[in-house]
Amino acid sequence: MKKYIIDLRVTGTERVGAQCVLLRMEPVEGALPEMAPGQFVQLRVDAQGVFLRRPISIHDVRGNEIDFLVQVVGEGTQWLASLTVGDTVNAVLPLGKGFSTHHPQPTTPLLVGGGVGVAPLLYLGRVLKEKGIRPTFLLGARTKDLLLRLDAFREVGEVLVTTEDGSMGEKGFVTQHSVFNSTTPSLIQCCGPTPMMKAVAKLARERGIDCEVSLENRMACGMGACLCCVTETTEGHKCVCTEGPVFDASELLMAKG
Ligand SMILES: Cc1cc2nc3c(=O)[nH]c(=O)nc-3n(C[C@H](O)[C@H](O)[C@H](O)COP(=O)(O)OP(=O)(O)OC[C@H]3O[C@@H](n4cnc5c(N)ncnc54)[C@H](O)[C@@H]3O)c2cc1C
Ligand code: FES
Repeated sequence: MKKYIIDLRVTGTERVGAQCVLLRMEPVEGALPEMAPGQFVQLRVDAQGVFLRRPISIHDVRGNEIDFLVQVVGEGTQWLASLTVGDTVNAVLPLGKGFSTHHPQPTTPLLVGGGVGVAPLLYLGRVLKEKGIRPTFLLGARTKDLLLRLDAFREVGEVLVTTEDGSMGEKGFVTQHSVFNSTTPSLIQCCGPTPMMKAVAKLARERGIDCEVSLENRMACGMGACLCCVTETTEGHKCVCTEGPVFDASELLMAKG
């Protein structure tokens, strides 16, 4: 897929929970290129002392508008979260390989997310819905205050929730949700913290369910040049930025442990 360097203008911002900001943007000129769910964007951060672009997932695309869900963890994300309507950001997009969306019917994919890892699942769900597949989201968090954008997910598909403290949905981890007792999804598509991703990949392996996971390794160039993002696979080292971030869990050594 061809990559573009474009300026995006902020059209809206919204605080989401205690640590995240939803950024709505549109190209300063022209139309957004075609983008697949699970792909990401490298955003230039014009803050002093921040030299590298920051990789951020495509959270949603509607018409010529693209949304990002940004969790503040350091200077780069703090700068992004401080943007206001009318500000512009330089972006390289779309990058990497996303989730598969061409599923034979009848398919019942389960989209599993935790933390800010839920970000790419909204656009994935939207694309699946447009293809006539109603997605089910299984979203997990420590406590209900850390669940992100539930209403937006409910507009696209069915939403199941787990919280570790039981403050919303079923108590426990996503892998303990009763959905796994009542149905067998044809495919699990997952993005979240590494321990969650590993647990989901293990469950999928034990049940014989196909599973795709999206990795969020630290990145620099985002283009396959610096090799700082590599992960070990059954076929040797692969760059997460160009050959991922979405991988079949069965090829990731880290997901086999
Ligand atoms: C493909 C991809 C998609 C991503 N999508 C999103 C998204 O949609 N929304 C979002 O908020 N974040 C996303 N991230 C993570 C985001 O890129 C980092 O949080 C960001 O680069 C941190 O920059 P910073 O300058 O704020 O923090 P830094 O000062 O660079 O780091 C602050 C702290 O965060 C940790 N950290 C930095 N990057 C990562 C990472 N990739 N994984 C785990 N810990 C990290 C550092 O170790 C450090 O402890 C994604 C990462 C990747 C690789
Ligand atoms: S970030 Fe440079 S090779 Fe992946």
